Amino acid sequence: MFSSRTNWNLKQNRLAEALARHKSSGRKLFDLTASNPTECGFHYDAPAIIRALCNPAALQYLPDPRGLESARHAVSGYYAQRGAQVAADDLLLTVSTSEAYSFVFRLLCNPGDEVLIPTPSYPLFDFLADVNDVKLVRYPVFYDHGWHIDLHALRQALTPRTRGIVVVHPNNPTGHYTKREEVEALNEICRSAQLTIIADEVFLDFSLNGASPPSFVANTAALTFTMSGVSKISGLPQMKFAWLAVNGPEEMKREALSRLDLIADTYLSLNAPIQLAAPALLQQSSGFQQQWMVRVRRNLAELDRRLSSQNQISRLAVEGGWYAVLRVPATRSDEELALELLEKHDVYVHPGHFYDFSGDGYLIVSLITPEQDFSEGLKRITESIAAKI
Ligand SMILES: Cc1ncc(COP(=O)(O)O)c(C=O)c1O
Repeated sequence: MFSSRTNWNLKQNRLAEALARHKSSGRKLFDLTASNPTECGFHYDAPAIIRALCNPAALQYLPDPRGLESARHAVSGYYAQRGAQVAADDLLLTVSTSEAYSFVFRLLCNPGDEVLIPTPSYPLFDFLADVNDVKLVRYPVFYDHGWHIDLHALRQALTPRTRGIVVVHPNNPTGHYTKREEVEALNEICRSAQLTIIADEVFLDFSLNGASPPSFVANTAALTFTMSGVSKISGLPQMKFAWLAVNGPEEMKREALSRLDLIADTYLSLNAPIQLAAPALLQQSSGFQQQWMVRVRRNLAELDRRLSSQNQISRLAVEGGWYAVLRVPATRSDEELALELLEKHDVYVHPGHFYDFSGDGYLIVSLITPEQDFSEGLKRITESIAAKI
C-alpha cells in the first residue's frame, strides 16, 4: 500500500523508549538536549509579536511564489545589517529550512541523484533525502585543533550523479564555521564538476566571539543556495518563517529562480499573517541573540569549571551554534552511556551516534539549557563517569 521511500524502521530506539518511561514516571529530568528556545526561559517581546500578527492587511490574499515582497525586503534588511547585499528578487520564502532543502532537492535531483552532506551533522537529513528520493553521500569533517573538511575524502565521494554539496555553517553539533580556504576549494570543485553549494546557515549569527562570520549569500563563484529562518535566528521555531537565497553566476541564478518559482507556486505554503509579521519577527533576533550569548557563555564557563577538576572528560573547541561536544571514555557504546545517565541519574544527553560520529566516546549537550539544569546535569555526568573509572 505504501511507497518504498517511506519504508522506515519506525520502532523507537532504546533511548527514546527509556525517555518515554522517564517522562511518565514523573521524576525530575535534567534535559541537556533542550533545543526548543521557547521552553528554555528566554524573554520575548510578546506585545510586539502579537501586534505584528494582528495586521488587518492579512485579510487580503496576494499570492506570490517567492513570498510577499515586503517580507523579502525584511530578509534583505537582515543581511544588509550584516554587511551583505541580497536583492529581494533573489529570495524565496519558505515555512522552514526543511522545506527550503526539499525545494532545492526537487530542483536539482532526479530520483537516485546524490547530495554530499557533512558527517557528523544534523540527523534530519536522512528523512529529507528519503522523501525527495535523493541519495545522501557523506563526507567527513575531522577534529584536529578545531574542525576541518576532509577535502580529499569529499573529492573521492563525488560521482557523476552528485548534484550538490551541503555545508552547515556553523555545523550542528560541532559548532564550526566553514573556513575561507574551504569555501574556495568548494567553489573550485563545484565550478569544475557543475555542482551547487547548499549552505545551511540557521546558526550563522551564533558566533561565540561575537564576530559576524561571512554568509554564503555573498558567494558568486558557484551556484549557491543559502537558507536560514527565524526558527533559530530569533528563537521562534513555531512561527514557521524561513527563506532560500539564490546566488551565483547570473544565468544559472536566473534559471534556478524561475524553476524554483514553479515549485513554490505549486504549494504557496506561507500564510499572510506571518509574512506581514516578518519585520517584527526578525527584529526579535537582537534581543534573543543577546540572551543566547549570556546563557551560552555561562554554561560554557560552568562546563569548563567542572571539567577542570577531573581528567576523564574533555570538550571539543566550539566556535558557535547551540551545542557542545564532550569527549568521554569509550568504554562502552555512547548509547549505553546515555541510557545509564538517563535511567540512573535522570540526565538526558544525546549520544554521538545520533549525529553520526564515526566512533564511540562522544556526548552532545545543548548550551541553551537553563543554567541550573545544565550545572546539575553536568555534575551528575562527571560524577557518574568518575565513579566508573
Ligand atoms: C542545522 C539545522 N538546519 C535546519 C534546522 C531546521 O530548521 P527549521 O526549523 O527552519 O526547519 C535545524 C534544526 O535544528 C538545524 O539544526
